[in-house]
Amino acid sequence: MKKGEEIIIRIDKMKYPNVGIGQLDGQSIRIKGALTNQLIKGRISKKRSGKIEARLLEVVERSPLEQSSFCEHFNICGGCMLQTFDYKGQLELKKDMVKALFEEAGYSIPIDLVVESPEHFEYRNKMEFSFGDAYKDGPLTLGMHKKGHHHDVVDVPMCHLVDEDFRLILREVLSYAKTQELLKFNKRSNQGFLRHLVVRKSKSTGEIMIALSATTQACNPKGDAFDGAHFVDFLRGLNYSGTLASILYVKNDGLGDVVAGDIECLYGRDFIVEHLMGLTFNIHLYAFFQTNTLGAERLYQTAINLIPDMNEKVCFDLFSGTGTIGQIMAKHAKTVYGIEWVSEAVEAARENASINKLDNCTFICGDVFEKLSEIEDKPDVIVVDPPRSGMGEKTTKAVAAYDIPQIVYVSCNPATLLDDLLVFAKCGYYAESLSIVDMFPWTGGVESIVKLQKKSM
Ligand SMILES: C[S@@+](CC[C@H](N)C(=O)[O-])C[C@H]1O[C@@H](n2cnc3c(N)ncnc32)[C@H](O)[C@@H]1O
Repeated sequence: MKKGEEIIIRIDKMKYPNVGIGQLDGQSIRIKGALTNQLIKGRISKKRSGKIEARLLEVVERSPLEQSSFCEHFNICGGCMLQTFDYKGQLELKKDMVKALFEEAGYSIPIDLVVESPEHFEYRNKMEFSFGDAYKDGPLTLGMHKKGHHHDVVDVPMCHLVDEDFRLILREVLSYAKTQELLKFNKRSNQGFLRHLVVRKSKSTGEIMIALSATTQACNPKGDAFDGAHFVDFLRGLNYSGTLASILYVKNDGLGDVVAGDIECLYGRDFIVEHLMGLTFNIHLYAFFQTNTLGAERLYQTAINLIPDMNEKVCFDLFSGTGTIGQIMAKHAKTVYGIEWVSEAVEAARENASINKLDNCTFICGDVFEKLSEIEDKPDVIVVDPPRSGMGEKTTKAVAAYDIPQIVYVSCNPATLLDDLLVFAKCGYYAESLSIVDMFPWTGGVESIVKLQKKSM
């Protein structure tokens, strides 16, 4: 087999993240995006140190378990790659992918629970859409990045992961931008205006936040400054099923393709209110909040069920975001310490604890590794919920150094979870069980929870 050669191969299994694996001439070949049981045409793209990778060219034969896709944007936006399987089949694939990842690393862990998302459609409470070109120098569009393309943006007016309010906002804001002749931002020249549109909607209260991320440059070819009041009037005139609570203008003159910058509140307040597990959370634009609210209740409940006893205990909520896990623990615990480095999230966590009348929580702003040493109390319970990049070696070792019997690890990336578990293993902690909680139906996203137990020497 040579680089560039075309192959036809049957996919035997999948490994996280969304890599199909098949055998040809006694060799194992990996193809990103290929699904179990599909017959694939691919082209060998990499051959290095015994590993062979191929690029997916065509699905020659679908898996017998596959059905028609339900979304007209399938394979264009690249979001819901598992949608040709039924819901149960898709959960099996996620479980198999995680199993293969751990098996390949020689890490033995039973996957004892797969928890369904309460909602399979319209479950997302947040979307970040990009303004851009439908194709190079093509017309303005607003939506998701096209599958396999970093620059082109595909309009997704029928997306099934969000409800009709999101779809309405998406359609209408694009049409507004076109009629007002608003300029898209050009990443190469750093000229222009429109960058992103973030929409958040609370599942429990129906409150909606709309944040336009744009530069402070002229907004149209006539050189006019952006008229925020006009934009507010237009958005307030739309017919939502929820309630418009917040319109924000994020002034983003930076170079990075991310939503960042000073926020001007154009209408309402700068947060929306969500209720979760009997608690109230004010959610601000920059604060992390699980994107599937009802799924998050199952996620947190599954994590909490792994902690045998919190009564009168000192609990650490590391990578605490808006302090959701910490506040759930605070109902039973003696004291809770949360550490989070986004200051807006920490302020929100403090504000939320006060709204929830929890006076036993301390939320600390800063890097988890650096701030741990500043806490004088020793923990009885530790729950970690790091970002996709994981905890990393030094923070993992610092957490293990507390030498408590059990630690609960919540992860949105099984690959970095595995890396951190290998570090924990060197410190004497082994994973007792792994649960998958489906927070992202139809997509390749996997949320897992692991209970770590200290080995008795
Ligand atoms: C997956 S979120 C978890 C948030 C929270 N547990 C929840 O469920 O809403 C990870 C959080 O870790 C924060 N974070 C990432 N790296 C960090 C670090 N080194 N120190 C402190 N916080 C960090 C992020 O800002 C984010 O809020």
